[in-house]
Amino acid sequence: MVSSSTPAGAHGDPTRRDFLMVASGAMGAVGAAATAWPFINNLNPAADTLALASVEVNVSSLQVGQAITVKWRGKPVFIRRRTADEVKAAAAVKTSELPDPQADSARVKKDKAEWLVLVGVCTHLGCVPMGNKSGDLKGNFGGWFCPCHGSHYDTSGRIRKGPAPKNLEVPPYQFVSDTLVRIG
Ligand code: FES
Repeated sequence: MVSSSTPAGAHGDPTRRDFLMVASGAMGAVGAAATAWPFINNLNPAADTLALASVEVNVSSLQVGQAITVKWRGKPVFIRRRTADEVKAAAAVKTSELPDPQADSARVKKDKAEWLVLVGVCTHLGCVPMGNKSGDLKGNFGGWFCPCHGSHYDTSGRIRKGPAPKNLEVPPYQFVSDTLVRIG
């Protein structure tokens, strides 16, 4: 017995049912595209994240011997305008005497030796060392002192005494002009 309920359109004729299926398929594609966009857009960094990827700091008001701390990618960055004596002391150290040997000249920009830019995070366990504010302890070597476990950094930010294994990190930076530093 042949059923009379064979779906119309099963023999190739366009029917209302076929149309509904095609239409809902098209809606599905549009819906997928519409939901895919916000998802893809979310993969792009937010504007505030991009802004923090690099930071520009105007250092024109920093006097010789002063320092400031700025925030870059969630970390403190020390910018110190070193005195001539601090530069001389940093340059005079034999790298062979250092736990993490690095010449001062490799840690500053050419012709900008008075400017030292460092990530202000102790390389031992991540405390923020003292020495960037006026009146702070600067440790035995005149740079920074981490009171957490007693690490002493010199005027180049190099580890000289204590448990920290590495020098304070020099972040990527450049002088955009004589008074503007871009970090990152
Ligand atoms: S975290 Fe700085 S000495 Fe331990």
